[in-house]
Amino acid sequence: MTTHLRTRGFHHATLVANDAPRTLAFYGELLGLGLVKKTVNFDDPSAYHLYFGDETGRPGSILTFFEWRNAPRGAWGVGGVHHIALGVGTTEAQLKWKRRLTDAGVAVDGPLDRGYFRSMYFSDPDGQVIEIATRGPGYAIDEAADALGQSLLTPPKERMPEGRDTVAIQTATHPEPVSEVTPDMKLEGIHHVSAITDDLALAGEFYEQALGLRLVKQTYNQDDSKTKHFFWAAYEDGVVEPNSSMTLFGWEGSKYVSRAGAGQTHHIAFRAADRGQQDAWRDHLLAMGLSVSPIMDRTYFESIYFRAPDGLLVEIATDGPGFLVDEPAESLGETLKLPAWLEPRRDSIEQTLVPLR
Ligand SMILES: [Fe+2]
Ligand SMILES: [Fe+2]
Repeated sequence: MTTHLRTRGFHHATLVANDAPRTLAFYGELLGLGLVKKTVNFDDPSAYHLYFGDETGRPGSILTFFEWRNAPRGAWGVGGVHHIALGVGTTEAQLKWKRRLTDAGVAVDGPLDRGYFRSMYFSDPDGQVIEIATRGPGYAIDEAADALGQSLLTPPKERMPEGRDTVAIQTATHPEPVSEVTPDMKLEGIHHVSAITDDLALAGEFYEQALGLRLVKQTYNQDDSKTKHFFWAAYEDGVVEPNSSMTLFGWEGSKYVSRAGAGQTHHIAFRAADRGQQDAWRDHLLAMGLSVSPIMDRTYFESIYFRAPDGLLVEIATDGPGFLVDEPAESLGETLKLPAWLEPRRDSIEQTLVPLR
């Protein structure tokens, strides 16, 4: 079964944090993302839901955070996300990020040559692993651009742990302190999401049939040569869409299931063009035998939720109406926004929330 419904890529990813002011300091000030919406969790209005993104919160640029103040730390595993990668234009800009982060006391691992891009890793204050990955050189370095994902590729030795110059990697950094996020450092949204599955074949079938993603790379985890690492993306006519790579580590048959909590990704959301496509998508998913939520009005988009075979919570969110629906671009994220049905409770909601700034 194939589908005519093809997502263009990620809409957003939603993470869990313990402390909204701390999250704002990390993602807003240190990483320079824009706070594009300050609202509450519509299913639990006593807690913040913060949205970060580019200037207008374009789909693909958005990270959102549920503030669960007392949640214990979660753990990655089958059905969970291992890390989220944000894109950056150049290797020079990546080293500026390394300098900026290490000067702020954040431990950084890398940059490592992954072939298709260069990666460096760090953890946010809750323990979520974040990667900054370069835009290029892309997936066509070892396969033809119009025939990606055709065969299982073994990474060359120099990209594996035993082939690395660890000292050079550790010492590589920008020579000067980086006190502000310069335009060349601008983070370009979700470069990829890497999750863990216990059945690569089943998961692949799901991402292809449910979302219209296509396999663009079959290889091995470059930190662990025994684990397969497959990549899917919105890929058509030899072009891989930015902000669309979903990668999976194959822990075949593993019983190490992820645990929800702080420092973990709650769900990932893919794009639907509009409500008409959302309706068609819901019918398609139901016809696949999946259990799918009703269409939910999230004010800034409409959403449906369902689960991948390994348990990962997946959403499809419409591109519109977007974050400008209730405040102008110049002042996005400045005031607490509530949906109409929560406005009557604004006073009590504001009293429960810790002021952010
Ligand atoms: Fe990655
Ligand atoms: Fe969501």
